[in-house]
Amino acid sequence: MIIIGSDHTGIELKKRIINHLKEKRIDVIDVTNFNDQTGDDYPDIGYIVSRNVLDKKCLGIAICGTGIGISIACNKVNGIRASVCTDKYMAKMTRQDNDANVLCLGARLENIAVEDIVDTFISTEFAGGRHQRRIDKIKKIEDCQKDGVEYGDSL
Ligand code: RB5
Repeated sequence: MIIIGSDHTGIELKKRIINHLKEKRIDVIDVTNFNDQTGDDYPDIGYIVSRNVLDKKCLGIAICGTGIGISIACNKVNGIRASVCTDKYMAKMTRQDNDANVLCLGARLENIAVEDIVDTFISTEFAGGRHQRRIDKIKKIEDCQKDGVEYGDSL
């Protein structure tokens, strides 16, 4: 299952990706199917996508104009590792090395092979091994923030 959401800039791209995933018989849930487009600021969309990804333990796709704003918002949610990807290599490496769970895309970017990026992101497995140690450190940064402890003190 894939969770998807976009702000107003990404409505067409979101539909394109949903159709692409449905053609591949991959379940996709659009969590931002708002009729009222005044309430679709990218921080809210990023949060809603992220919450659903954590609750359903699956991957997500979050779209805004550049992919950048929504990635910043997603990455504020503990447990989310969101990456803006503009090519297949980035999509592959962020799954393999970073265990990214949200792919962020920019609807206003030109000449982006979106379907290839999506396919690569959802089909690449996390490599684990030494990369797990680094993911654990990201989690530790989150835990320190939650507890009001300075992460740097333990370095
Ligand atoms: C909305 O106009 C735009 O700022 C937003 O989609 C996104 O690109 C922000 O990073």
